[in-house]
Amino acid sequence: MKKMMMLVLLAAAAAPACAQGLDGKSLFGRNCAACHQASGAGIPGAFPALRGNPFVQGDSGAVIATVLKGRGGMPTFAASIDDEQLALVLSYIRQAWGNQGAAVAAQQVQAVRGASGAGDAVRQEQPTNVH
Ligand code: HEC
Repeated sequence: MKKMMMLVLLAAAAAPACAQGLDGKSLFGRNCAACHQASGAGIPGAFPALRGNPFVQGDSGAVIATVLKGRGGMPTFAASIDDEQLALVLSYIRQAWGNQGAAVAAQQVQAVRGASGAGDAVRQEQPTNVH
């Protein structure tokens, strides 16, 4: 019985970034902070600030579509992050650092993914490794 528990624990420790139990903040840290910075301040001239950014706090559909499809120097996340995780990370950026946007639900991400076909368009590609 004890051995069994050990195996389960080891398996959990070895699980990749998409493991259960990650919150929006740690998902942001893993997927976004390299460019947008943990402080949300971005890097002027290279990566836009998400903190205090009206677009980030505005229409959730537009924010979802932007991150799913990528834009300019930002990679697409459609193939590398699931609906649940994207909802968590977007809820985080809309409410961290004094931002006041509404939380995003996984169902909203799913709806935008379906409507835009963003998922289909990039599913054949390898997820971009941005770390
Ligand atoms: C490789 C660097 C990089 C990573 C990683 C990255 N972004 Fe971006 N992001 C950018 C750049 C560059 C832009 C500006 C794109 C443009 O408009 O040309 C941007 C734009 C955005 C915008 C739109 C901001 C605006 O004012 O229009 C949002 C929202 C956003 N990113 C969220 C995220 C989230 C959430 C993640 C993680 C899931 C993420 N980004 C990961 C580089 C990155």
